[in-house]
Amino acid sequence: MSALPACCRYLTARIDDVPDALDWLSPRERATLETLRIAKRRQDWLLGRWAAKQALAASLARRDETPPLRAIEILAAPDGAPEVYVAAVAAPFAISISHSGGRALCAVVPRTVAVGCDVERVEPRDDRLVEDFFLPDEVAAVRRHEGRARDVMVTLVWSAKESALKLLREGLRRDTRSAYVAIGDPPVAVTRWAPLAVRCEGRLGSVSGWWRRSGDAVLTVVTGIPVAPPLEIEARDCRTTRRPRPEVPS
Ligand SMILES: CC(C)(COP(=O)(O)OP(=O)(O)OC[C@H]1O[C@@H](n2cnc3c(N)ncnc32)[C@H](O)[C@@H]1OP(=O)(O)O)[C@@H](O)C(=O)NCCC(=O)NCCS
Repeated sequence: MSALPACCRYLTARIDDVPDALDWLSPRERATLETLRIAKRRQDWLLGRWAAKQALAASLARRDETPPLRAIEILAAPDGAPEVYVAAVAAPFAISISHSGGRALCAVVPRTVAVGCDVERVEPRDDRLVEDFFLPDEVAAVRRHEGRARDVMVTLVWSAKESALKLLREGLRRDTRSAYVAIGDPPVAVTRWAPLAVRCEGRLGSVSGWWRRSGDAVLTVVTGIPVAPPLEIEARDCRTTRRPRPEVPS
């Protein structure tokens, strides 16, 4: 068995990718699904699980491990963070999951690395959100942009905060202003990974990460130790019948 490289891999999935049959879920996962009463929440949960299982199956295959998808379990810890088990044993990977607008993102790293990821659709957001949830320097950075560039900037700062708060396993229980996002002045159409940093108040200090545009969305990934730009897990690496999709132009 080869040693795990400290790299981050990611996969995006769309709602159309999720099979109708549920035989890829474990009995415990099916029991969790049964508790979700709201259709949108069920759909998001299934989409996130499908993205994560595809990403994990591809990552395990690189270690010559090919368990059936239903043996790869993603269970929520008491704080809500997803944890991975293979045949009921803790897996060598840590993951983070996000879903937005019918699209899911899953980031996979070695288990010893903390990770948070987020996908957010770029859309106009109110000044009030910026003033209530951002730090003064972040507000100033947003004000340097107009139109679509402003929308990207707001989405990016929000998404990077969510990624950092997921890495901390606290989510929005923690004040969004306890995480300062430093990204400089990004161009609107970054379709390759670009670096970012998030300074978190308290025990963690700074974490580094990456962001990119993908179609009408922004993706962010932050990790507890610096890693190279995330590598995409391609459709051909997945155990799925879906065909590779062309990238939607930004
Ligand atoms: C975590 C949080 C920031 C996610 O934000 P969001 O915009 O609603 O949703 P996203 O799609 O980006 O992310 C959702 C995923 O975050 C993950 N998540 C949830 N709580 C988390 C936590 N404490 N730490 C890390 N990841 C977490 C889950 O995998 C979740 O997807 P799933 O429930 O389908 O598996 C937000 O839900 C939050 O702050 N929750 C507070 C913690 C909480 O109440 N958790 C719920 C169970 S205790």
